[in-house]
Amino acid sequence: MSRIAYVNGRYLPRGRASVSIDDRGLQFADGVYEVCEVRGGRMVDERRHMARLDRSLNELRIARPMTPAALAIVMRETIRRNRVRDGIVYVEITRGVARRDFPFPPGIRPSLIVTARSNDLARIEQSAAEGVAVVTMPDIRWGRVDIKSVALLPNVLAKQAAREQGAREAWLVDEQGRITEGASSNAWIVARDGKLITRQLGSDILPGITRSVVLDVIKAQELAFEERAFTLEEAYGAREAFITSASQIVLPVISINGRPVGNGAPGLIASALRRDYHRHAEIS
Ligand code: PDD
Repeated sequence: MSRIAYVNGRYLPRGRASVSIDDRGLQFADGVYEVCEVRGGRMVDERRHMARLDRSLNELRIARPMTPAALAIVMRETIRRNRVRDGIVYVEITRGVARRDFPFPPGIRPSLIVTARSNDLARIEQSAAEGVAVVTMPDIRWGRVDIKSVALLPNVLAKQAAREQGAREAWLVDEQGRITEGASSNAWIVARDGKLITRQLGSDILPGITRSVVLDVIKAQELAFEERAFTLEEAYGAREAFITSASQIVLPVISINGRPVGNGAPGLIASALRRDYHRHAEIS
């Protein structure tokens, strides 16, 4: 449960925390965000998440609301005030508040929201042990999804469609029939020859932090891997599939569009990557 939210300089009970109706985050989705895992009350991969936040802000020319050191303190304080041991901390920065007009308004201050909430670890572990289903749908997002912007409507629609089909995640497919990523995760397969495959970075996927740490684990363990686009057909024929994200870490995928992946049970490599993840992650 999240009881306290930080908004523009104040810690408030969640029910009383609010932003202006003229906030550009609300009117134009003119903002960026980060989700960082919290484990044992500490942040996981904070440096990489903060570096990506900086990049998103730079790409959209949104000012920083405070120094990185001050933001780190606010994030920790929000985790502490909500007594989060295992969960997530969420940071959103919008361009700020101004009379509705499309171009950047001059001289406004960015808005900052920080929340934190606990996760039901037992439920997540159960999902990991059982594996999850994914279904595919066309990737109808804009051309700069490498920026972690709050403009997530296509992701919302994809996730809802997945849920209505009894699946946990939607895998998005480009015009060439290749998987880009999940609605809120990066997509991976383990090919028949044991090689791990995930799409190369570019403007068509989010550079996932969990993805980057998993790649470090793969390199440290000298496993064969390739960063390239893979087709839906390849995914159907894969030995294993899995998704990565800060909130789920590594989650085995056991079916795609109702077809079992491999033998239809969580794969050995995915399960091992999940088990080893926090030994390689930076926990602060
Ligand atoms: N989602 N791709 C998309 C589209 C995402 O929204 C996310 C994360 C990822 C994985 O990135 P990372 O490993 O840095 O979490 C990939 C977050 C968790 C969310 O929106 O809740």
